[in-house]
Amino acid sequence: MKKLIGLLVISLTLFVGCGGGSDTGNNKSASTEKESSGLTDFEQKNGIGPVTEEIQLPSNIEKELAKKGEALFETKCSACHKLDERYVGPAQRDLLDRRSPEYVMNMILNPAEMVKKHPEAQKMLQEFMTPMPNQNLSRDEARTILEYFRYMKKHKDQMEIQ
Ligand code: HEC
Repeated sequence: MKKLIGLLVISLTLFVGCGGGSDTGNNKSASTEKESSGLTDFEQKNGIGPVTEEIQLPSNIEKELAKKGEALFETKCSACHKLDERYVGPAQRDLLDRRSPEYVMNMILNPAEMVKKHPEAQKMLQEFMTPMPNQNLSRDEARTILEYFRYMKKHKDQMEIQ
């Protein structure tokens, strides 16, 4: 019984603590603040996984890197993804219009956690009804596929790298 009263007091205190007043003057830095989803601002925008910092991308596309990515995409991804049409998964040509490069890398490298915790990935799973599998790529391999996506976004008329 004592325990119960203790709990009651704690929850009451919490209740009063949270309900009291507005958040004025509460200027905690936005990057460490967690959203209601439990994700940091960085994670909201860039996903959850091994990529925890912004990737520095050169403005020019590195064609050789993109070609490696293309080959990997053919063997590991094209069974489910096409460039311009919805298939088992979403079309990928416009991927970088809706997702940041870091998000794309995290989705490739850490899909299970993404689908479990990230609201956008959860929405995708609901829509496509198939979980994106982990293809066990290295970070470098995922980076080549990112370059392939960058190339394909830029060359909308091409179906393969020319
Ligand atoms: C077995 C089918 C399958 C394979 C193979 C597959 N994917 Fe997916 N992928 C999906 C599905 C389905 C979704 C959307 C639902 C989800 O996220 O679970 C998805 C989502 C994604 C997303 C997120 C798209 C967005 O708009 O947020 C990216 C990025 C992605 N896949 C990249 C890849 C890459 C790169 C490969 C190859 C290394 C790959 N996928 C292999 C089925 C697949």
